[in-house]
Amino acid sequence: MKSLEDFKPFSEEGIECPYPFYEKLRSDAPVYEAAPGVFFIGSYELINNALRDPHTFKSGEGAAFLNFQGEAGLAVPTKNPTEIQEILSQGPPDRDTLLSGDPPAHTRFRSLVNRSLSPGRVARWTPVIQDVVDELIDAFIDAGEVELVSQYSMLVPLTVVSLTLGVPNEDRDKYKDWSIRSVKTLAGQLTREEALDAARASTDLGNYIAERVESARKDPQENVIGDLVRAHLLDAIDGDEKSYRPLDTPEIVSIVRQLLVAGQETVNYLISSLMLMLIRHPEQMQAVQNDFSLIPQMVEEGIRAESPIQALGRFATKDVEFGGVMIPAGSRVVMLYGCANRDGAKFDQAESFDIFRDNVREHVGFGAGPHYCIGSALARLESRIAFERLFSRIKNIRLAEGKNDFRHNYSFIFRALKELHLEFDKA
Ligand code: HEM
Repeated sequence: MKSLEDFKPFSEEGIECPYPFYEKLRSDAPVYEAAPGVFFIGSYELINNALRDPHTFKSGEGAAFLNFQGEAGLAVPTKNPTEIQEILSQGPPDRDTLLSGDPPAHTRFRSLVNRSLSPGRVARWTPVIQDVVDELIDAFIDAGEVELVSQYSMLVPLTVVSLTLGVPNEDRDKYKDWSIRSVKTLAGQLTREEALDAARASTDLGNYIAERVESARKDPQENVIGDLVRAHLLDAIDGDEKSYRPLDTPEIVSIVRQLLVAGQETVNYLISSLMLMLIRHPEQMQAVQNDFSLIPQMVEEGIRAESPIQALGRFATKDVEFGGVMIPAGSRVVMLYGCANRDGAKFDQAESFDIFRDNVREHVGFGAGPHYCIGSALARLESRIAFERLFSRIKNIRLAEGKNDFRHNYSFIFRALKELHLEFDKA
């Protein structure tokens, strides 16, 4: 890549391999104005600093999301057009809880959700996840071949997230479709029709979750929705007096929607890209198959090397000089996690896949600071089990000849292999 301007985030080339652009960005301009008022942040150190300063770089008002509408390309978001607002108004009203929240309200919501998703709480799902995963393997093991994305990596988190949240698994085709259509606003430049479709899907998903919340209010179960309808949010502090109130339905819908959407696709991308990297590094695959205790660090290296979430945004709340560049108030600041995770100043041989690197857990693939991924314990658990069970039951895993083109889904934000065709022998 000759110059930074050559990078087209929506082009096929940009999506397939953003890494040469990242390299140039880190070396030439780690704070780079990619479009008027849109700044990319590329170095590990700067991203870490920005993520830990929510007062300067805030998440509120949908800051995570870039605006790719119509011809605007990469642009500072504008208000949704009236026709989209009308569709969205038919669903539960939007609330800033997690991703689009800022302290102190964000901290209060987050502490409630943290209880349900702490490493200790999610560990109790271990036997259930093992069963889910074994059933999925049962379905393809006799064939000696599998298309890993559609038959495994997509279904593991989809099933797990439905169990942990408390949304019926038999509805999964519906909420998967709504989730994928509604996050298209993150993926690339949408036509008017696509933007309307994303809004409809978002409304349908919101109404569906609201129904689940109302029925959980009558009969709360031991799952995240059950926890949330029983929870009490810190509402006000008056001297030493603190008052609490239950969450309202739009607040619970906002939280559950984010868990459902973030929880199903990210882990899918991780499992499939990690499997491809292992196949391309057979000595590391062998090491892990011989010693399952290496799986957790292998999972971390997968998140570092091919970060499932490549980027999300913030707003600058004030004029700020950052990394030697003046960022004006109101600018959109894009945190390129995938770029930071390949920063040679932080990781030796950063472009190589190496499950044995010492500081692998210091990646920012789960973010950092107040918005650090709240599902990280669940993501780590299900990815670990997904590989443990797979390696217990199949061996000699190889690419199915002539079937793979290694293409990714059309998205600048997610790193998502479309398909991965494998062959294997029974262990
Ligand atoms: C490998 C899998 C995953 C990756 C790579 C990932 C990545 C991330 C990243 C980078 C953030 C930070 C967002 C920001 O800085 O604004 C984040 C936040 C979040 N993640 Fe994950 N995630 C994964 C799995 C999950 C799962 C399984 C769930 C739900 C069960 C989940 C739910 C969330 C939520 C709700 C937030 C927002 C937290 C907040 O703003 O306080 N994620 N994730």
